[in-house]
Amino acid sequence: MIDTHTHILAALDDGPQTWNQAIEMCYMAYEDGIRTIVATPHILPGIFVYPPQVILEKLAYLQTLLQEERLDITLLPGAELHADPDLLTKIQKQQVLSLNHTSYILLEFSFSRFPPRVEEYVGTFIHQGITPIIAHAERIKEVQAHPQKLSPLVRRGALVQVTSMSLTGGFGPAAQRCAALLLQHNLCHIIASDAHSLQRRPPLLTPGVDVAAQLIGETRARAMVTTIPQAVVRGERVKNLLPLPSILRQISSER
Ligand SMILES: [Fe+2]
Repeated sequence: MIDTHTHILAALDDGPQTWNQAIEMCYMAYEDGIRTIVATPHILPGIFVYPPQVILEKLAYLQTLLQEERLDITLLPGAELHADPDLLTKIQKQQVLSLNHTSYILLEFSFSRFPPRVEEYVGTFIHQGITPIIAHAERIKEVQAHPQKLSPLVRRGALVQVTSMSLTGGFGPAAQRCAALLLQHNLCHIIASDAHSLQRRPPLLTPGVDVAAQLIGETRARAMVTTIPQAVVRGERVKNLLPLPSILRQISSER
């Protein structure tokens, strides 16, 4: 499996604070069946600001440590980019990292609501050939209340990542229910751990994939941690099922 969203580099953002903790997280991921980890530290202006070179150096260092441990995990570079108005310019100037240097970015919105004109915002990336993967969409309050709001973004070409622990209920019933809805309506493409530590948010995919398999079947659930993320890190096109907007509208009006 490939984990596309993790905070695994030590002493950087709010992930592990020591390299020992980072290595232990990699062991846990390995035990779960993960063989490729994309390191995606937060990039949030004013709070988490790291030049690509810093991330790449830390990534190379952790890879060396894993080799010394003889742990067969490949680390790939990335970042979790907070949505801000200057983000496109920063990407074009290579001031921030995409996922494994491809045209895919991991894009984080605020947990409360989408910015105004979010369709237009997502569209500006798509027009430039950049595909946003919307991080943990099921944890955004506005998506929980109106899951159909993701539909036009996906139709424009954005992908959606759901966090494994949301599917198992670790972020509460609203996130769990929303995660299930997104899966059932073709509004989720990738399941990732968003790992921060061994305990609080562990680097595990299997528990979430098991829940997903009950909702959408084993084959599609597995693709969200294998073939789809593989296409992403290789910079290949992800073939998308169209979202099912009519059903989502129905669900929304039932409330
Ligand atoms: Fe994250």
